[in-house]
Amino acid sequence: MADLSVNYLGLKLKSPVIVSSSGLTDAVDKIVEIEKSGAGAVVLKSIFEEQLKYEANQYLVNNDYPEAEDYIRNYTKDNSVDKYLDLIEEAKKEVDIPVIASVNCVTSSEWVNFAKKIEEVGADALEVNVFFLPVNKDTSSLDYEKVYCDLADELKQRLNIPVAFKLGRQFSNLPGLVNRLYHRRLDGVVLFNRFYEPDIDLDKLRLTAAEVFSTPSEIRQTLRWVGILSGTIEDIDIAASTGVHDGGSAIKLLLAGASAVQVCSVLYKKGIPYLQTIINEAEAWMKEHNFSSVADFRGKLNYHSIQDPVLYERSQFMRYFSSIH
Ligand SMILES: Cc1cc2nc3c(=O)[nH]c(=O)nc-3n(C[C@H](O)[C@H](O)[C@H](O)COP(=O)(O)O)c2cc1C
Repeated sequence: MADLSVNYLGLKLKSPVIVSSSGLTDAVDKIVEIEKSGAGAVVLKSIFEEQLKYEANQYLVNNDYPEAEDYIRNYTKDNSVDKYLDLIEEAKKEVDIPVIASVNCVTSSEWVNFAKKIEEVGADALEVNVFFLPVNKDTSSLDYEKVYCDLADELKQRLNIPVAFKLGRQFSNLPGLVNRLYHRRLDGVVLFNRFYEPDIDLDKLRLTAAEVFSTPSEIRQTLRWVGILSGTIEDIDIAASTGVHDGGSAIKLLLAGASAVQVCSVLYKKGIPYLQTIINEAEAWMKEHNFSSVADFRGKLNYHSIQDPVLYERSQFMRYFSSIH
């Protein structure tokens, strides 16, 4: 049997496949099923900074997405902060895999106090989903990025458990930002978060939410940046997220240098037990290629290891298309 274990955020995972933060991870029975299906770790459904700070109604002003409104209203009502801490405690009792807590936030303000409680009740790590969009034309990229750096500083000063940031795709210099986070001792990054995206309903002439679930082709952006970052900032752990729908895509991201991969949409579509299929496919690939452990091939095709790193860069992509007439 191949050794599927990996190290992520200083934690030993029995498999490289993590179930990412979502409604799939908001209850102990689901987390037990996730462990049974072979996951290496689980990231709990996020608690919102707003939940920690405001009444739900304040958050809902001008929200154009009614399903989200309902969801947040109900979620806030039914899921107090204490319930979140209970979920961590219960999950830790019921499963052996690492339980990673998750906070969605927009600032490094007082919610950070709550992070200490997450640590105290036994979470193995904290994933922080920083989710504001930089829409102010008068604010510089550096000012926006300062929010991330300040938050990393504060969390790393207060917490003993490892901390990872789940990042969006849009940064003017992603390696620069991740490098600054690394120098603030951040343990890992999750690349990438997939935000709700807007669409337009042409009949009703109003904004709506676009498709909530990813497609397998969305792995490409993830692959590029995992490859580049794992080859340039080698000591920060990367969990690849968005577009992992099968064992083959998990293997690609490990080859590109990810420490682990996260899955979500595919499990919504095919059910939690499908995790085992993903893991079996990855294991079958390893056997076929005579790799006895993930460590034998992880990062073999990252920006640093391949002969022609330019393959990861956009210019090569353009040249490729210029040959198609
Ligand atoms: C229904 C749903 C709920 C989600 N809730 C959260 C959440 O609470 N916190 C979070 O960080 N990400 C959340 N996500 C994002 C996922 O964790 C994941 O990053 C994203 O779906 C991309 O991965 P995928 O391609 O495997 O779906 C959610 C995604 C979906 C589809």
